[in-house]
Amino acid sequence: MSVYFDHSSTTTCLPSAVKAVVETLREDYGNPSSVHKLGLKAEKILKQTRKTAASLLEVEEEQIFFTSGGTEANNLALRGPVKNRRQRPLHIISSLIEHDSVFRTLKDLNSKDVEVTFLKPDSQGIIDPARVEQALKPNTILVSIMQVNNETGALQPVEEIGRLSKEHSGNILFHVDAVQGLGHLPVAIQDWQADLVSFSGHKIGAPKGTGFLYVRKKNLLQPIITGGDQEKRLRSGTENVAGIAGLGAALKKLPRLKESNQPEKLLRLKKYFLQQLARKIPEARVNTPRESAPHIVNFSLKKLPGEVLVNAMSSRGFYISSGSACHARRNIESRVLKSMGLTGGELQGALRVSFGRENQPEEVDRFIAALREEYDLLQ
Ligand SMILES: Cc1ncc(COP(=O)(O)O)c(C=O)c1O
Repeated sequence: MSVYFDHSSTTTCLPSAVKAVVETLREDYGNPSSVHKLGLKAEKILKQTRKTAASLLEVEEEQIFFTSGGTEANNLALRGPVKNRRQRPLHIISSLIEHDSVFRTLKDLNSKDVEVTFLKPDSQGIIDPARVEQALKPNTILVSIMQVNNETGALQPVEEIGRLSKEHSGNILFHVDAVQGLGHLPVAIQDWQADLVSFSGHKIGAPKGTGFLYVRKKNLLQPIITGGDQEKRLRSGTENVAGIAGLGAALKKLPRLKESNQPEKLLRLKKYFLQQLARKIPEARVNTPRESAPHIVNFSLKKLPGEVLVNAMSSRGFYISSGSACHARRNIESRVLKSMGLTGGELQGALRVSFGRENQPEEVDRFIAALREEYDLLQ
C-alpha cells in the first residue's frame, strides 16, 4: 500500500466535493451569466459557495471573488492594487519565504516605479514584525506576508504585522496568502486587519483550479484579466461552476474558523513523526520550527540530494517532496531554506513531508523504516 505524505502539494478530493462536481457537470451545465433558467441555476451554485466561504470567514459575500486558485488570487492581490494607484514610485514589502506566486509576481513588478523590499526571515523561517516596521516608508502601499510557509510550516506573525502596518498608515494594504493555513489554523481576517487574503481549493479537498480572494473593498484594486466582466468586473472569464460547487462542498467540511485550533489528529501524527525520526534517523536535521502548522515537517539528510531520496522513496510507493512541489522537478535549491541560512548538504538534502486527514501512525512507521534503508543504501 502506498503512503501519500505530500498533502501540502495537493490533497485528496473529498467524496462530497467529487459528488458536487459531477452532479454540476451533468445537470447544472448552464452559464451563470445566461438569463434563462439553467443560467440562474448555475448562478445559484456560485452564490451558495460564496455564502459558505463568507460565513466561514465571518466576512460579507460580496468580499469573496472566485479565481482559478491560489496563484491567480495572489497575482490579483498584488498586481491589482499597483494598477489601481496612480502614484509612483510605489513601495511594497514582502519576504524571501513567500510562495513563488507572490515572490515571482513581485519580482516581475519590481522596477524603477515599483520598489519591492524582500525581508529575510530568522533562522527558524519566521519574519520578524520589527523588520516589517523598519522597512515601512511613506510611499509603502502594500505589505504581503503569508500565514503559513508551504515548505517549513512556519507560522508567521500576521496579526502583529497587520497591526504595525496599519499603525504606520491606514492607506497601506495588507495581503496574506492563507493557502496553507485554511483548514489547519484559524484564519482571522478581522484580527489580522487584512485587506486581501488568498485561498486555494485543492489544499482543502476541493478540485484543482479553484480558489478565491477575499477583498475588503472592491475599489482597492483593478482587474488583471479583462473580458466579460464576471465577478463584479474584478475577474473576467466564465466561472468554473463545477469546481466552485466542489469548493463549496469542501468548505462545508472545515471547522468554524474562530474555533479551529490545530486539528488534534494531525498534531499527534506530526509529534509522532518527529519522535520516530529522532529515534531512527538521528542524523536528520529538522528545519521546521517548534511553533508550526500541524501538517508540515521539513528536515534535511545532508549526505544525499533531496531528489535522490524522493525518487527512491517514490519507487517504493512513498510520496514526499524535496522543498516545495513547484521546485521538485527542477534541481534548484530552496530559496526559503537558503534565506534561513541553510547551506551545502543541509540545503540540498531537504525533504518535506506533509500529512492529511487519512494518514495513520502505522504509515509513519513504514515510511521511517524505508527511509532509513534507502539512506543507508544510497549514501
Ligand atoms: C502558500 C501557497 N500559496 C499559493 C499557492 C498556489 O496555489 P495554487 O496551486 O492553487 O495556484 C500554493 C500552492 O502550493 C501555496 O502553498
